Amino acid sequence: MKYLIAANWKMHKTVAETLEYLEIFLPSVKDLFAVDIMIAPPFTALASASIKLDAAKKEGEYNVFLGAQNMFYAEKGAYTGEISPLMLNELNVDYVIVGHSERRQIFGEKDNLINNKVFSAIEHGIRPILCVGETLEEREQGITLKVVENQIRKGLAGLGADIQFVDIAYEPVWAIGTGKNATPEQAEEVHRFIRSLINELSKGNDDKTRILYGGSVKPENARDLIKQPNINGFLVGSASLDPKKFYQIITEVLEV
Ligand code: PGA
Repeated sequence: MKYLIAANWKMHKTVAETLEYLEIFLPSVKDLFAVDIMIAPPFTALASASIKLDAAKKEGEYNVFLGAQNMFYAEKGAYTGEISPLMLNELNVDYVIVGHSERRQIFGEKDNLINNKVFSAIEHGIRPILCVGETLEEREQGITLKVVENQIRKGLAGLGADIQFVDIAYEPVWAIGTGKNATPEQAEEVHRFIRSLINELSKGNDDKTRILYGGSVKPENARDLIKQPNINGFLVGSASLDPKKFYQIITEVLEV
């Protein structure tokens, strides 16, 4: 299984800053095929990033993919402020982050909406990264696995063998943007659980599904996390905003 190292820029970087980043980052990952790399800029910078990436791929070999941070499930309609899968298709977007905890908490996204998005993304050839994870309160109550199981069962409901077209990101909410990552053991416990759950739900068709860890991943902790047998990559927020740091995380993964 090829690991996936993904950058979630959240609401950071203008078009100019995106192009500046890619100018520095792309040469560092030229001819690097051992891992899949994904970058998810904000919507306003997607088109420019897409053109830049296409141009780079005409000049050399890059295993870098483009991601969106969100998507609505309908193809078009009266959905003010939303972005459709067709719009992402036009920009050659390969991945979409679905159900991030910030979408769930700040924008009130529920599991059935997230499930619709997962279905729609797959139908339109965009690979969803379904995000799940418990809050600090839920961890302290000892219901972490229950919360994650519920989010996965509902988020992937009805998919069956199509789970192979999805990646999962386990992102404990208390570890996101806090500088406090889950320990490798804490993460591995949940990843192991997720692996057995999706194996059951997909009836064994989960060998292409990567389970990423997200939550304060940085060059300093990447190595110990990626050594865990059920951690198949990362979804990186803050540390991905610096092209050198993001590249360092990739090299940490490659060295293990
Ligand atoms: P962080 O964010 O790396 O800044 O903790 C991760 C994420 O929310 O995807």
